[in-house]
Amino acid sequence: MMDLSTTYLGMRLPHPLIVGAGPLGDDVDTARALEDAGAALLVLRSLYEEEITGEQMNAFFSAESYSDSFAEAGTYAPDPLVALGPDEYLEHLRLIKSAVRIPVMASLNGVTPGGWTSYAKQIEEAGADGLELHLYHAASDVTCSAAEVERQALEIVRDVKRNLLIPVAVKLAPLLTAFAHFVGQLDAAGADGLVLFTRFHRVDIDVDELEVIRTLPLSDSSELPLRLRGTAAVAGRVKASLAITGGIHSGVDVIKATMAGAHATQMVSALLRHGPKHLRTVHRDIESWMQEHEWCSLNEMRGNMSLERIPDPAAYERANFRMALR
Ligand SMILES: Cc1cc2nc3c(=O)[nH]c(=O)nc-3n(C[C@H](O)[C@H](O)[C@H](O)COP(=O)(O)O)c2cc1C
Repeated sequence: MMDLSTTYLGMRLPHPLIVGAGPLGDDVDTARALEDAGAALLVLRSLYEEEITGEQMNAFFSAESYSDSFAEAGTYAPDPLVALGPDEYLEHLRLIKSAVRIPVMASLNGVTPGGWTSYAKQIEEAGADGLELHLYHAASDVTCSAAEVERQALEIVRDVKRNLLIPVAVKLAPLLTAFAHFVGQLDAAGADGLVLFTRFHRVDIDVDELEVIRTLPLSDSSELPLRLRGTAAVAGRVKASLAITGGIHSGVDVIKATMAGAHATQMVSALLRHGPKHLRTVHRDIESWMQEHEWCSLNEMRGNMSLERIPDPAAYERANFRMALR
């Protein structure tokens, strides 16, 4: 009997396959279908700081859209719902919580410390099993230093953690100067988990129409290596649980994530493309792979390829570069 169980944010899960933040939790039917297909946990789409503070919001944030045609459109495709206001968000959270038995996490997306973080308490009171804090950071402000970015993020995490009993995971962007050091600080600030990494909207330029084109194309497995690297760098060095988001599409992707040190793997694009039943395929593929390679549990595999095993990761990487350039 293969043991795929894992502990993520203090929650014991039967396996690491969780549904990442996005439109998949937008309606009850899809949430139930995901539960039926075996999802271990569901993260709802984000509620944005601007929605809470009533500030003007950039239009493309409020209506996340994705560019991919559904392979089997119609049957499970959730409506790309426009951003929910704070009250509707809580109502929606209660609705999904009452519809499924699996743990449901809410998500707050913000950048500046402030009163909006107290909203996390209401999310807890509405029944969320955990909170994902998406500290969206695009590194495009010329007046904001790396130290300031980190200071604000840590302040947000401390503010939220101060009042909450449910676990808090922090979802990070890959654009951080001293990533591993910062992760250590988030760990010390009490983050229960880290979700690596945010995927940015793709910005392109239409040179004929002189327009900026923003799209959020669905991912493929080629996005995974960046996440493997980030996870492998901090696995075994922090108390916080680690989840990978971005490029998880197949059973082998989950095996790689586990070897890098991930406790959970989030899927969004793969489930939007293939529907909830894809969870079963991935689950089955993990089991077959483990059987073939004689692994009994994911726990014994977790982190076996993390950089903790390498005395000087930086020197190792530079050596690899030199060999590649030869
Ligand atoms: C249509 C769409 C909507 C998304 N909405 C959110 C969101 O509200 N909050 C969030 O933190 N991430 C959101 N994401 C990002 C996903 O949670 C995930 O991090 C990203 O898509 C990478 O995972 P994947 O390769 O499995 O798609 C969204 C992604 C897509 C495609």
